[in-house]
Amino acid sequence: MKTHRHLLTLALLSATSLLQAGQAVLRVDVQNEGKAVNPAMWGLFFEDINFGADGGLYAELVKNGSFEFPDPRMGWTKLGDRDTQDEVRYLSRTDATPANQRCVQLRTENSQGIGLSNGGFRGIGVKAGEHYDLTLDARVLKGSSGLRVRLVGPQGVLASAEIEALPQGWESHQLSLQATATEAQATLELLPSGKGIVEIDRVSLFPRNTWKQRPKGLRADLVQMLADMKPGFLRFPGGCIVEGFNLALRYQWKKTILPREERELLLNRWNVEFKDRPAPDYYQSFGLGFYEYFVLCEDIGAKPLPIINCGMACQYNSGELAPLDQLGPYIQDALDLIEFANGPVSSEWGAKRAALGHPEPFGLTLLGVGNEQWGPQYVERYEAFAKVLKAKHPEIELIAAAGPSPSDKRFDQLWEAWRRLKPAYVDEHSYSSPAWFIQGHGRYDSYDRNGPKVFVGEYACHTKERKNNLEAALAEAVFMIGLERNADVVRLAAYAPLFAHVDAWQWKPDMIWMDNLRVMPTPSYHVQSLFSRNRGDLVLPVTLSTTGESRLFASATWDKANSELIIKVANPDGAALSATLQFNGSTTVEGPVHRLVLTADNPETENTLNEPARVSPKETISPAFTGSESFPAYSFTVLRLKLKK
Ligand code: AHR
Repeated sequence: MKTHRHLLTLALLSATSLLQAGQAVLRVDVQNEGKAVNPAMWGLFFEDINFGADGGLYAELVKNGSFEFPDPRMGWTKLGDRDTQDEVRYLSRTDATPANQRCVQLRTENSQGIGLSNGGFRGIGVKAGEHYDLTLDARVLKGSSGLRVRLVGPQGVLASAEIEALPQGWESHQLSLQATATEAQATLELLPSGKGIVEIDRVSLFPRNTWKQRPKGLRADLVQMLADMKPGFLRFPGGCIVEGFNLALRYQWKKTILPREERELLLNRWNVEFKDRPAPDYYQSFGLGFYEYFVLCEDIGAKPLPIINCGMACQYNSGELAPLDQLGPYIQDALDLIEFANGPVSSEWGAKRAALGHPEPFGLTLLGVGNEQWGPQYVERYEAFAKVLKAKHPEIELIAAAGPSPSDKRFDQLWEAWRRLKPAYVDEHSYSSPAWFIQGHGRYDSYDRNGPKVFVGEYACHTKERKNNLEAALAEAVFMIGLERNADVVRLAAYAPLFAHVDAWQWKPDMIWMDNLRVMPTPSYHVQSLFSRNRGDLVLPVTLSTTGESRLFASATWDKANSELIIKVANPDGAALSATLQFNGSTTVEGPVHRLVLTADNPETENTLNEPARVSPKETISPAFTGSESFPAYSFTVLRLKLKK
């Protein structure tokens, strides 16, 4: 393969002599075995926002199936020809439990066609030929009746099944429905077939084809998108949702590992957060709870990174504080979480994990204390947590927050405290303009190498119209190149938020959009994925010279397992650039050049559910390295080269 080799030595080349208009020289110091990249560096931020869990990842198709929403009618429509309230009654259960306080009663003694229809989470998505498993509790109190269940679309009935005779006492029933057609906005109808009084509760419908075919599991297409990214970690359950509107409404992980029917519904704080994006039907069912999050991490090969409430409610809302002398139960929750994740099966919480089906530990090493808190009251609370956690679990790396902004007084005060208190990581959040992200390329160059490491725990480029377009993704790529170059300081990073339902979002931009049947990666998803899938193990120093006003941003890493050099190059501007690639020493490139390029003619280009691949990476392979590479206007490129040193 000698003819394919190009010997390029720095000593022989003068950078300036090579520079022409629209040209660059990109030199990689391949002799310098640089900073190690954390194998978990590029991860995911998950929060139940934008119908991310209920109505999204958690594949339950019936909304308010147990009539527990404060308005028990929400999600349900009465069927029948008579306009009277009397035939459908929402009742308190005499045997109420905290998680199941109500049921519905349908009275068909005097009326025909009485029933209920559930509209799902902005419709129920069903696919032709696929099976859907319905479960419900039902009984007949008077008379006799069966129960017909149907999936119905605008064109008519898509599937139906029947319980012939309902029992007189509460019983659970299971029915299978096979859809005859594909429909994104179906409804589920429940229709008593006889005359009498029928009571129904805990109605649930799941696709059989969930992720790994687990009953009552997660939406397979959405998890696949995450698995495809090969994420290093998964942060859960948020986000502000950890904090709650007040402390009573905070996220309490212990309640989420109870049997599903015992998990109490809770207001989702995004229900009420934005007046212009109200979501009155947004509640947390916790069908996706902490056990499911840990299993999801394992499934997709991501380290679990839970964030725990530190005795503070969201400071954008009530900001309610647990008094310092009453933090005990909050700290105990953190200790028990560690035991739940890692403890032996003989321990109290390890036994609970085993009982749920996972005797092996989950290997928790990272724990966030508080989400996006700020102020001295946060520092005091963090300190109380850290004192106990560090003493009892020195193996757990603690994460402290740096507030909601990447540069303000709150941020500076927190960093001052963190330099003293030394959490393993400081969690910085940045939602800013394209210009900020491009400028942010150099942000970590001057960070203290001896202080806490940085977890860029939430970031996303917000264009003026908050679009998920190529411009935003390229600005993020430039920023991420800066994170990679500083992999000794920045050890973890995640885009936020992760999911959004097109008919139910509260916040944008987001990384992955969905409707009830389809999923759409954004250009930002591809940038994240390109980084994560082409991480490399060691950072190699890069120097770049460009002509005139041209801007190019680059980083390089060495992939030990494949003996490959990975070069990432972002060109956020409207002119293509050609770059001469140079390596020091007597390094040669052998074999083909693999190229993955994310680009479009217009930086405003976005993907859509109908055209989800408009902006997606294209792979090309050249048989031999020519010594230079061209970087299209508005592009992000990943090159993989085999080197012989
Ligand atoms: O990602 C959306 C929100 O942004 C998170 O919940 C919060 O931590 C931040 O303010």
